[in-house]
Amino acid sequence: MESDLSEKFRRLVEVGLALTSERDVSVLLGRILFEARRFTGAEAGTLYLVIPEGKLLFSVVQNDKLGHSEVLVGNGSQPITIGISPTSIAGLVAGTGSTLNIPDVHDLPESCGFHFDSSFDLKTGYCSRSMLVVPMKTPDGTIVGVIQLINARHPETGEVTTFSKENEELVLCLASQAAVALNNAKLTSELQLAYSEAIHRLARAAEFRDHDTGAHIERVSRYAAAIAEALELPSAEVSKILLASTLHDIGKLAIPDSILQKPEKLTSGEYAEMQCHAKLGADLLAGSENPTLRLAAEIAYCHHEKWDGTGYPRGLRGDEIPLSAQICAVADVFDALASARCYKTALSLEDACEFLRKEAGHHFSPRVVKAFFEVMDKITKIRGVPSV
Ligand code: C2E
Ligand code: SIN
Ligand code: SIN
Ligand code: FE
Repeated sequence: MESDLSEKFRRLVEVGLALTSERDVSVLLGRILFEARRFTGAEAGTLYLVIPEGKLLFSVVQNDKLGHSEVLVGNGSQPITIGISPTSIAGLVAGTGSTLNIPDVHDLPESCGFHFDSSFDLKTGYCSRSMLVVPMKTPDGTIVGVIQLINARHPETGEVTTFSKENEELVLCLASQAAVALNNAKLTSELQLAYSEAIHRLARAAEFRDHDTGAHIERVSRYAAAIAEALELPSAEVSKILLASTLHDIGKLAIPDSILQKPEKLTSGEYAEMQCHAKLGADLLAGSENPTLRLAAEIAYCHHEKWDGTGYPRGLRGDEIPLSAQICAVADVFDALASARCYKTALSLEDACEFLRKEAGHHFSPRVVKAFFEVMDKITKIRGVPSV
């Protein structure tokens, strides 16, 4: 028995570690409930999250008998909530923070004040009997959710049995680890959102003086990501390109309005100054440890290089040009061609496409142009999004 317990503790530590490294909140929620059920042999279970409105949100339901496993958050389904009040079992646990270990939900004493909601059983024909309900509590005592385990199965006979005191302790411990993992995952995704928003706002600052809407950079970024996907780059790389490419023209922040907003053709001197935006952008972004900003610096530096070596600022040719910049060049020029600028009118979609085709192997990487046309349906969708 003792070695069984130490084995369980070992697994508990393992599970806790595994949970800590999961960054996707909905995957994490499913894992938490799955592991809690595996620990106790529970046939079914529900995970509820405490939401800001002070309610419990049905977040994961799993039931082996009904062959049912579903994460209900973040998938667009209609949220189902219950109150944090002592009238339901989960509500009572969320409100008090105490664990409930119920041998038989159909045999609750009148005096206990809560009742078992049998509507789910009635609807599905499932028969809930034993139940272990624990709070998910962070170290500072905040209750972030509730794990409700249903029908512990005896490991040998498979009969429905009660949840042992020992399992009660273990699941409580697992639930606390899960609460911490969940908080971390939420913080990470909030940080990522804040970071992504900050980058978009910075990019818009540069764009603002140029074409007074952020629509060009948003489209370029989404074209670039669509092309990267067509080239079968890993999804993490695609996400980085989506964000980093928004900063490709950040160096235009340093270009005077007299050049940037000049409706007539630039003089050769003015054009030379304009060309400095590539190196200026790279300098502005240089020296970061952050992989996305490093990629942004690379794109800013190289997005006006041409496949045949006639581009600027360095005249790189072919695969001397980083793939990210080869992609961004196609995305940027396509959108510039198909849009009106202070200095020119827009080409039709067909003419813009024709330009890319004609310039494959000259201005552009042939492979990247090919990838662009492979996702033409995505490109036209992105193009169709109205300017903001
Ligand atoms: P942008 O307007 O975002 O254009 C980016 C790139 O798209 C250009 O890089 C060029 O490769 C391509 N592109 C844009 N419009 C046309 C076009 O009508 N025909 C062709 N063949 N390609 C086009 P480029 O030329 O190095 O220019 C970089 C930036 O310099 C432009 O960014 C724009 O901000 C500015 N610029 C270029 N020419 C003029 C101009 O005559 N007047 C003004 N005010 N700005 C200019
Ligand atoms: C309750 O906690 O009573 C509601 C959840 C359930 O039906 O199992
Ligand atoms: C193309 O020119 O290859 C297609 C452009 C379009 O979708 O109209
Ligand atoms: Fe540029």
